[in-house]
Amino acid sequence: MGLTLGEGGTPLLPAPRLSERLGCEVWLKWEGANPTGSFKDRGMALAVGRAAGRGAPGVVCASTGNTAASAAAYAARAGLPAVIVVPAGAVARGKLVQVLAAGAELREIDGTFEDAHALARRLAGDEGWVNVNSINPDRIEGQASAAAEIVQQLGGPPDVLALPYGGGGNTCAYLRGFDDAGRGRPRILSVQSAERATTAGSAIRIVAPVHRDRVEAAAEIVTVTDAELLEWWSAIPRLEGLLCEPASAAGVAGVAQVRPGGRVVCVLTGHGLKDPDAVERL
Ligand code: F0G
Repeated sequence: MGLTLGEGGTPLLPAPRLSERLGCEVWLKWEGANPTGSFKDRGMALAVGRAAGRGAPGVVCASTGNTAASAAAYAARAGLPAVIVVPAGAVARGKLVQVLAAGAELREIDGTFEDAHALARRLAGDEGWVNVNSINPDRIEGQASAAAEIVQQLGGPPDVLALPYGGGGNTCAYLRGFDDAGRGRPRILSVQSAERATTAGSAIRIVAPVHRDRVEAAAEIVTVTDAELLEWWSAIPRLEGLLCEPASAAGVAGVAQVRPGGRVVCVLTGHGLKDPDAVERL
């Protein structure tokens, strides 16, 4: 068996109260149910598993928090060291706990996610260490499994898929997954923050998305303010019982703005327990 912590196979739940509010048939793909609490586990299982299989001495990544938590857990599982580079003071507490608990080396830098990413890429050049950010194609391949699951769970692709847009790796993964499933692509709403540099959705605090060209070519970009993001982040648990982290509400906030109609899957990318300080914004 390849490297696994039991990722994937997450629930796709009908959301009747959100549907009523948003004038469409809403389904929620609950990625908070993954082992470390985010969709990153799908791609990390493959990327770290393949790095270990090739005899890499370790893995390295930059992160706003979830990639970090996932890389640390899968590296521990594979028996490899992990070096995690994050912008100091910008990562939610639960995610830092996950990194430290798994014994990864945490490097907090004074700078942005982009600075962290540049450093992680440089470190990966050393002695065969493997970068496990989404520029690693194994990450995208692994994350594509979510699209195949949705097609199977609904008996076909939805009319619309709405998801948060940070660096854009997950949008690329869904594009690939729907193409591979061979039943056609839904309309894809990639929902970004209007306040990329400062958003309360710390997971998507990314100013220069690395996959921008592909996302802009193949998906529709929707831009939401933090007020919209937080309004829907607090509505989702009240209406449907699922507490996601603030960034993860972007898909629902985008659907509220666009009102696309039809059968709509919103991806809730990460668990709310990762970001306990966000409670002040409820
Ligand atoms: N939702 C969550 C919970 C995330 O952690 C991220 C990205 C996204 C959405 C956006 O996905 O970048 O593929 O468009 N988190 C990365 C990280 C940047 O380091 O954990 P994307």
